[in-house]
Amino acid sequence: MSFMEWNEGYSVGVAIFDDEHKKLIAIINQLHEAQQAEVDKLALQRVCDNLVEYTLMHFRHEEMYFDDWAYPGAAAHIALHAKLRQQVFDYRQQIQEKDSRELAEELAVFLRDWLAQHILVDDRKYGTFLREKGLR
Ligand SMILES: [Fe+2]
Ligand SMILES: [Fe+2]
Repeated sequence: MSFMEWNEGYSVGVAIFDDEHKKLIAIINQLHEAQQAEVDKLALQRVCDNLVEYTLMHFRHEEMYFDDWAYPGAAAHIALHAKLRQQVFDYRQQIQEKDSRELAEELAVFLRDWLAQHILVDDRKYGTFLREKGLR
């Protein structure tokens, strides 16, 4: 049993974003596992960076679709992304500065909970909208 597992309940109904969410979940699991395995500082940092980069890419991608399809919920959704982006930056900096395993685990737990909530509540809303536009 993984730290976080994707299931159909997380589907937003648009394959490309389901795939990205699966990948995000995979990297969250990697961070948790790296922390558990007591890998060295650099390896932990690398997973951390990966997670941050992929999160940023994923947000940009969603926001591009909001733009392309004139999604009415865009502003509120983008604000949620912006807040999370800042929190993740703060975590990364703290983890770097303090070389802290506890913080790395805290980040994994925080992102797991945030992502679950965000997909189920916010991403599913744009999913419904995009499906009405014919996307799958
Ligand atoms: Fe998402
Ligand atoms: Fe989102």
